[in-house]
Amino acid sequence: MFPCARILSSFQSRTILTRALSTMTTKKLLFVKHFDGEPKPSDFKVVEEKIPALKDGEVQFEALFISVDPYMRPVSVGKPLGQKMFGAQVARVTESKHPKYKKGDNVVGYMGWETHPICNPDTLESPFGAIEKPLVLPDFKKLPLSLALGVLGMPGNTAYFGLTELCQPKPGETVCISGAAGAVGSLVGQIAKNLGCKVVGIANKKEKLDWLQSLGFDVTIDYKEENVDKMLSEKVPQGIDCYFDNVGGEMSSTVLSHMNMFGRVAVCGAIAGYNAKLHH
Ligand SMILES: NC(=O)c1ccc[n+]([C@@H]2O[C@H](COP(=O)([O-])OP(=O)(O)OC[C@H]3O[C@@H](n4cnc5c(N)ncnc54)[C@H](OP(=O)(O)O)[C@@H]3O)[C@@H](O)[C@H]2O)c1
Repeated sequence: MFPCARILSSFQSRTILTRALSTMTTKKLLFVKHFDGEPKPSDFKVVEEKIPALKDGEVQFEALFISVDPYMRPVSVGKPLGQKMFGAQVARVTESKHPKYKKGDNVVGYMGWETHPICNPDTLESPFGAIEKPLVLPDFKKLPLSLALGVLGMPGNTAYFGLTELCQPKPGETVCISGAAGAVGSLVGQIAKNLGCKVVGIANKKEKLDWLQSLGFDVTIDYKEENVDKMLSEKVPQGIDCYFDNVGGEMSSTVLSHMNMFGRVAVCGAIAGYNAKLHH
């Protein structure tokens, strides 16, 4: 069973180890109701189906880790109901009739929320509508394969290229990150530290701020417990040169008022608005 409620609310462990039920059936999580506010278990339905015979060009996978990402919330708005929930997973090839995938290969790809998906890699669409073949992973040695959904995957690429190409931080500059304890934000901060920057992280809850400090963040602000404007004035008097924004909304307006001349902003996400209620 997919522990749906738990994975939708988890912040740290965004991936879950799926349990192989049987080699004859596959379990899918169908998206049956458009979200209104926070996603709920009743927005999904679990179905179990017989695994069909593999056709030429197709590959059968066994899901190892399924990712839950913030983009799913806004992207879901345009998706038809009754279909398998879209999303990325790390999976192992269990059978293949495609020349580029062999049994035992580990891949990362957009096979959706299903335990034993079958797809034709040449026609597999990402949630954003482009054809994106599952990527065969190199040998991770002792590293966990789930990293292909984290630092070695989409969040890691977002953090690295968003910071280095859009913000272009210079040593000694101050980089501020909202959503700092998330998958992307926590990596942005660590990369910025490696580039010789002073790093300010905005997140909620003491445990997260403590963790960010253990990663080397110079200043941490709890946006629910503290006044961000006041804290930035007090703790970041030199101003902000780069703002990596994961959150949007009111927090962005506050941080932007602390930017230095010729500062750079990477608008990575606007998570503050993702779970908005529908207007009835
Ligand atoms: N442009 C791209 O290519 C791209 C790629 C990946 C991700 N993104 C975007 O990057 C952002 C972060 O993604 P992620 O994967 O790092 O997310 P994540 O690991 O799920 O972390 C998200 C964090 O955002 C914070 N948050 C949630 N609601 C908030 C609110 N209303 N106000 C302020 N903070 C809030 C929460 O931390 P606290 O409890 O500490 O507030 C949460 O842990 C998202 O906006 C996502 O859409 C963009």
